[in-house]
Amino acid sequence: MSDSCLSATIAGITMANPLVAASGCYGYGFDYRHCIDPACWGAIVVKGTTLHPRLGNPPPRLVETPSGLLNAIGLQNPGIAYFLKYIRVRLPELGCPVLVNIAGETLDEYRRLAALLNGVDEVAGLEVNISCPNVKKGGISFGCDPALVYELVCRVREAYRGPLIVKLSLEAGNIVSVAEAATRAGADALSLINTIKGMVIDVQKRRPVLGNSTGGLSGPALRPLAVRAVWEVSQAVSVPVIGMGGIMQAEDALQFILAGSAAVAIGTANFVNPAVPKEICDGLKRYLADNGFTHYRELIGLARPGS
Ligand SMILES: Cc1cc2nc3c(=O)[nH]c(=O)nc-3n(C[C@H](O)[C@H](O)[C@H](O)COP(=O)(O)O)c2cc1C
Repeated sequence: MSDSCLSATIAGITMANPLVAASGCYGYGFDYRHCIDPACWGAIVVKGTTLHPRLGNPPPRLVETPSGLLNAIGLQNPGIAYFLKYIRVRLPELGCPVLVNIAGETLDEYRRLAALLNGVDEVAGLEVNISCPNVKKGGISFGCDPALVYELVCRVREAYRGPLIVKLSLEAGNIVSVAEAATRAGADALSLINTIKGMVIDVQKRRPVLGNSTGGLSGPALRPLAVRAVWEVSQAVSVPVIGMGGIMQAEDALQFILAGSAAVAIGTANFVNPAVPKEICDGLKRYLADNGFTHYRELIGLARPGS
């Protein structure tokens, strides 16, 4: 099957396929170039970027869990000024659209980040992270309250005219209300889910393994929760949903698409298999051919009760 059966347009961004490198798991897109051509992605979302440089949390920052990974990086990044000066100019080398994931400690920080990125040609769009569980200020504390989410997204929307994606967490008690608030405020698409806060204890040392005590759980352990979230949110909003959480292979991506994802993002899988985007594209094409479909978009939201 030709590659055109996977072409996608999300929030006005034209992508060769519906696979997105998830924020925080692909650096600025350059780190895996010795293993795989970054242009094999539909789009890459760069590491969470903040107004000021951040050193992140104390080590250890990662610990493996059954079918998952617990991380507490704490949004380590060199800050928006460094990004704009040194990284921005290199992004066209990647050969696919690049989105910037932004995170603030206050509503005004989100607005200022959005204003600084407005009109930056090398950046295809913004992903607004209102769902990071590993920082003391901002992050998930914004993402749980629909009224605050509405206010935050309105401010970012005013400051940024390009494609705007809002990244949600399942920690928001009612993810559908938060999704509706973000959409009302002008989000062009939603991405979900971010990691969920967890903890591992070292029983010999009798203390938490992570330097930050808690971290965000990612990987296959999340998948059924994430598929359920996509299923609920995609039925409640009219904007496209980018689903993620534990996608390791084509069958996992298909679950998200059938649940209602217009695109899928892949994070943790890159750490164990850098060839994952290519393998998933091949697997999606095989599935389309074997089941008589001509384009992957025919599958979006196809799994409905009674279907
Ligand atoms: C090490 C690590 C760092 C992450 N950093 C960010 C980040 O900076 N911003 C963000 O929105 N999500 C971040 N995430 C969350 C992922 O983008 C993704 O939402 C989550 O890991 C679920 O997908 P996965 O199971 O495919 O990894 C990070 C995840 C991991 C594992």
